[in-house]
Amino acid sequence: MNNQLKESVLQVEGLNIYYGSFQAVRNVSLEVKAGEIFGLLGPNGAGKTSTLSAIEGLLKPQSGNISIAGYNIKEKPLYARANIGVQLQSTSFQPELTVSEIIRLYGGIYGVEMTIEKLEKMLTNIKLEDAASKRFGQLSGGQQQRVSLVIAMIHEPRLVLLDEPTTGLDPQSRRQLWERMEALRENNHGILLTTHSMEEAEAVCDRIAIIDHGQVITIDTPQALIESNRNKPEVISASRKGKITLEDVFIGLTGRAIRS
Ligand SMILES: Nc1ncnc2c1ncn2[C@@H]1O[C@H](COP(=O)(O)OP(=O)(O)O)[C@@H](O)[C@H]1O
Ligand SMILES: [Mg+2]
Repeated sequence: MNNQLKESVLQVEGLNIYYGSFQAVRNVSLEVKAGEIFGLLGPNGAGKTSTLSAIEGLLKPQSGNISIAGYNIKEKPLYARANIGVQLQSTSFQPELTVSEIIRLYGGIYGVEMTIEKLEKMLTNIKLEDAASKRFGQLSGGQQQRVSLVIAMIHEPRLVLLDEPTTGLDPQSRRQLWERMEALRENNHGILLTTHSMEEAEAVCDRIAIIDHGQVITIDTPQALIESNRNKPEVISASRKGKITLEDVFIGLTGRAIRS
């Protein structure tokens, strides 16, 4: 289906966020469509987490409009929030509860009826069918991460927000998470994720926004960003004669200086 025709699951328009007198997010606008994986890329301090926090409703922006699945978060906050899934840090879960206890607990919080069959299907989906009675604290990092993703999705939200979901994962767990994200895309959910991995952005993101100092520098598909910058000497230095990657474009657009 033509991307233009797809419904949008997230619309951000003219978002401005200040911490005191410091402006962390400057006039950010972006849109995530149903069935799209959208990557937010930027150096440390670029304003990625602040943007996600405003979308989640945890932080009140000074100005701008945010709509989730068509619901403006100021006018219809409950409907908007019911359509967002956020992956919690694994430290948010009680380590002594079992996997099935945690899933039942969050099912209850979100008002999702949880039959045995449904629970088993969820566990099979994340390849944890044998771990139902294991304590959360005994799971590996990758397994914990899969449980937290399943909980983010328990109420079948239209939009899933993932802040650096693969940081610290081993390659196997990372691949598995990519597959989970692709399955969500197949089911017409929209995903907004942040990442420092250019490989990840190229592998899974349909479109990306590069942001720096709180501002969106560019939004496009990874391939189009490479193609449109390939012959720009101000972006790609002449010494990079070989294969130009998304990382070359990213460094070219955001500079070489290390951010704290
Ligand atoms: N609670 C806060 N109080 C003051 N400054 C903050 C706060 N949170 C973030 N910042 C600042 O806002 C900027 C953007 O931060 P953040 O959104 O966390 O960036 P990113 O996630 O891209 O690394 C940074 O300069 C950061 O130091
Ligand atoms: Mg961050």
